[in-house]
Amino acid sequence: MPKKLFIKTYGCQMNVYDSGRMADLLAPLGYEATLTPEGADLVILNTCHIREKAAEKVYSELGRLRPLKEERARLGGRMMIAVAGCVAQAEGEEMIARAPVVDLIVGPQTYHRLPELVARAHRAAGAVLDTDFPSESKFDHLPETQAVDGPTAFLSIQEGCDKFCTFCVVPYTRGAEFSRPAAAILAEARRLVAAGVAEITLLGQNVNAWHGEGPGGGSWSFARLLHALAEVPGLERLRYTTSHPRDMADDLIAAHGRIEQLMPYLHLPVQSGSDAILKAMNRRHSADDYRRLVERIRGARPDIAMSCDFIVGFPGESDADFVATLKLVSDIGFASAFSFKYSPRPGTPASGEARQVDETVKSERLAALQQLLGAQHDAFNHSMVGRTLPVLFERHGRQDGQLIGRSPYLQAVYATAAPALMGRIVPVTVLEAKPNSLAGALTPAAGAVSQHMEVGA
Ligand code: 5AD
Ligand code: SF4
Repeated sequence: MPKKLFIKTYGCQMNVYDSGRMADLLAPLGYEATLTPEGADLVILNTCHIREKAAEKVYSELGRLRPLKEERARLGGRMMIAVAGCVAQAEGEEMIARAPVVDLIVGPQTYHRLPELVARAHRAAGAVLDTDFPSESKFDHLPETQAVDGPTAFLSIQEGCDKFCTFCVVPYTRGAEFSRPAAAILAEARRLVAAGVAEITLLGQNVNAWHGEGPGGGSWSFARLLHALAEVPGLERLRYTTSHPRDMADDLIAAHGRIEQLMPYLHLPVQSGSDAILKAMNRRHSADDYRRLVERIRGARPDIAMSCDFIVGFPGESDADFVATLKLVSDIGFASAFSFKYSPRPGTPASGEARQVDETVKSERLAALQQLLGAQHDAFNHSMVGRTLPVLFERHGRQDGQLIGRSPYLQAVYATAAPALMGRIVPVTVLEAKPNSLAGALTPAAGAVSQHMEVGA
């Protein structure tokens, strides 16, 4: 009898990758993925600690799981509940006390031990906890076989962070910066392509800080790795996220103009447009450094779509500091962006700062920033109308006969298309820009197909 595994993933794409690898690790033990927690033998919550709200969601979910676990026990079965990811790492001990429903706690650097931990948790009376930072890399212990879900995939190449921005928990939850060797990354990329993947997004908390061992020894830069990946036959698109402005090396900027597979979309968080706040955040770049950097990147790849992260209401942020952020946004012009209210995280330097910003001020600033960013996002999407873009179809749309894919600029594009085009890169003419997607028609029969486009996504 196969056992049922339900994994719920919170937070970043790295967690999405990790959840996939957890499923790969548990598959040989007979665990098969299910879409709901009801009746699951093992539930894993792969958690995010980046902001307070993200962490609290985990406790709410545990509250919802408790009756399911009790019901299962009443029927003579057992539902094991595991918490993985960054909340597990940061709050492991505390969580066992606060949520006794949890059987197993595993941090982001030890989840390769899940099979053994699950076996131990089955025998144990109380909860089992593993939040080590082991000296050996988990990547050396993950199975080669990897379940692939469609033509796009994530590939973790770098983990952890040595930058210590004063707001951020990542250096504490994910640990020190670590780069996987190039040979392991290339081998994983080849296996993904062999399984039908056409687009790989390289992942790391500071992905562009990657500097790994080259296949023949010596150290490779991230740009060199990108060039090598571009040589993998069948790998048609490359992306990477998340980057730090300080690590945009010259050869990496140049790579954006040279590597055809490298998509013209770059997520490059700046966090604030005020030099005083950037300094307090320990970002080690100024607002003008960022402006000059974007100018150079656009010099290499003029059509690149810039994406960003912002924090409003960082301790001590004045109205003038916030206006400087708005100015930076106006100067750059972002295709997309994420913005957040500052959330004090326990153990980070900024959380102890006396000059915390009032919640209502944070909300007002967030609304103003999101209005500006939203307008830029809409303008960017509208600028695509009438253009023909290569779209990699990756899933079925809500309407019959519809496929959804991504443009080079990471926009969701849907069109009426034959199922055989799934996984293929197809020219699509954009007919309409919606808030979160573009409606298109296959070219050259755009006119004929457009009448079907009313259906919407
Ligand atoms: N409060 C609010 N936002 C945060 N981020 C990271 N830490 C915090 C925090 N304490 C945001 C940053 C980062 C993104 C992943 O989350 O903008 O780039
Ligand atoms: Fe969340 Fe950051 Fe951890 Fe990803 S690395 S799960 S975003 S806290």
